[in-house]
Amino acid sequence: MIRDPEFDAYQGFVLAAKLYWTGPMFQELKARYEDRLARDHKGLPPGPERVQALIGDDTTTRFFGFMERHLQRMKYSGRLGLHPAHAVHREAIEGQLNAPVPAGMLEIDPDFRQPKYYSSIDIHQHPGGVWSDEIAGVVYERGARSTTPLMSKDKDLHQRFTDIVLARKRPARLLDMGCGFGKSTRSFWEELREGEVVGVDLAAPCLKLAAQDAAAAQARNVRFVQRSATDTKMPDASFGVVTSTMLLHEMPPPVIKDTLQEAWRVLEPGGWMVHLDFLPPDDEFLTWMHYGHGRRNNEPFMEPLARMGIDGEMERIGFTDVEIMPFEEMAGALALQGKKWRFPWTVIAARKPAA
Ligand SMILES: C[S@@+](CC[C@H](N)C(=O)[O-])C[C@H]1O[C@@H](n2cnc3c(N)ncnc32)[C@H](O)[C@@H]1O
Repeated sequence: MIRDPEFDAYQGFVLAAKLYWTGPMFQELKARYEDRLARDHKGLPPGPERVQALIGDDTTTRFFGFMERHLQRMKYSGRLGLHPAHAVHREAIEGQLNAPVPAGMLEIDPDFRQPKYYSSIDIHQHPGGVWSDEIAGVVYERGARSTTPLMSKDKDLHQRFTDIVLARKRPARLLDMGCGFGKSTRSFWEELREGEVVGVDLAAPCLKLAAQDAAAAQARNVRFVQRSATDTKMPDASFGVVTSTMLLHEMPPPVIKDTLQEAWRVLEPGGWMVHLDFLPPDDEFLTWMHYGHGRRNNEPFMEPLARMGIDGEMERIGFTDVEIMPFEEMAGALALQGKKWRFPWTVIAARKPAA
């Protein structure tokens, strides 16, 4: 969409700086933490609070945090940021998003009211969030290409997750909660050509892009609906699999609980619920880093998700076969853990027992 060498150079600079932050800056900060810990751990018990006490005031910590927050801000805002650079082409983008799609593929609710937890935060520093501006889905799609700077093949992550989900069950109907602009939904509808896939999301601009993408690929087995994951209005026991990708950490714990309960309601007996999200490993430095990332990147529910004990919550609802396991967003990613900054990708799966 945007053909401007100055824009490309600016975004290229931001990405290169992010890679520096991901690698050498992360390593320097970790080395300083290890050095302080070896010299004097102040008698504190292990945990992110101890890391904060050891290096919270360190200049490297502050510079690392500054880079983390402001590189993301630069990516989206400022003259050559993703939002203003796309806003110049607003008319063309809106024309493309509102082009007709096959009947039933897209359901937007003109009276939809956004929940407060969602509308009051510019999530991951996206100006206005991913819902308030017609072009937000297109801006988010462009931004998501470098969310995980270590990755080169951006579709790889979703395909890997799809493989994990479908290894458990190949359902006739699958629900993707928080489907965004359809990137997480796409590998499911591509794999389940004989079945039906439904994506729900709060954000109309994202759903419109998802439907355009599916229509362009001549998909016939997917539809996108503007609904909350907490209240999908889908019939009871109507899906064999319910999934989400990067949804739960964007919700406060009470909303996560309602989402798990809704997944239980719409799942058929014997069905699987599989989420891909972020839970820090058992490592105080990486946990401290993950909680700090949530604060610095306008993702305030990352820490509450990690602390809420989601496995117990799933069991309380009645789910069995609960599994929480690390996920590799690309081949060899887990070997990089602790060597480079990365999200603590985690698969959270459970089964509704067969009746
Ligand atoms: C980080 S995005 C992930 C999008 C997509 N799953 C992907 O992997 O590209 C999170 C999505 O969750 C959506 N979301 C947040 N709260 C929601 C809710 N209560 N119900 C449905 N979608 C929600 C947001 O609008 C956003 O599109």
